[in-house]
Amino acid sequence: MINKKLEDILNAQINKEFYSAYLYLAMSAHFDEIGLKGFSHWTKIQAREEVDHGMILFDYIIERNGKVDLKQIEAPHYHFGEPLEIFEQIYEHELKVTQSIESVASMSESECDLATRHFINWYIQEQVEEEANVDEIIKKMKMFGQDKTILYHMDIELGKREYMPHKF
Ligand code: FEO
Repeated sequence: MINKKLEDILNAQINKEFYSAYLYLAMSAHFDEIGLKGFSHWTKIQAREEVDHGMILFDYIIERNGKVDLKQIEAPHYHFGEPLEIFEQIYEHELKVTQSIESVASMSESECDLATRHFINWYIQEQVEEEANVDEIIKKMKMFGQDKTILYHMDIELGKREYMPHKF
């Protein structure tokens, strides 16, 4: 059984993961509109991963005999500019998600829920990977500046991303 405080914070995290999926889908549509199919593909795959993140939390709450409480998902907030600006927004967004996951970890410790503390480790590691992947893309874009040839090659590279369903 999970306690109410943890149930609430995990339900809030479900909402944040689905919001993330919305955000990435909006970006994917924008990239598609401006002809960057690879960037569009990359963000669409990321949206699918965010849905997985939400569903893993959903299943976990049920497994712990808690109550899933789905709240309204906000429309995504974004300002669309150059691809670099969009990826900088992605990085900022993921930093906030990391903080949110860390809050779940802290609460599971203060509430002595060792199962949730163990469960949330996977998310902590996932955030390390997500921040690193986005940071790498940003650094490449900054290094090559406004060179459209590089953008073209990055678009091909990002278009190769494969969806990997997450399993525990
Ligand atoms: Fe589910 Fe991008 O963190």
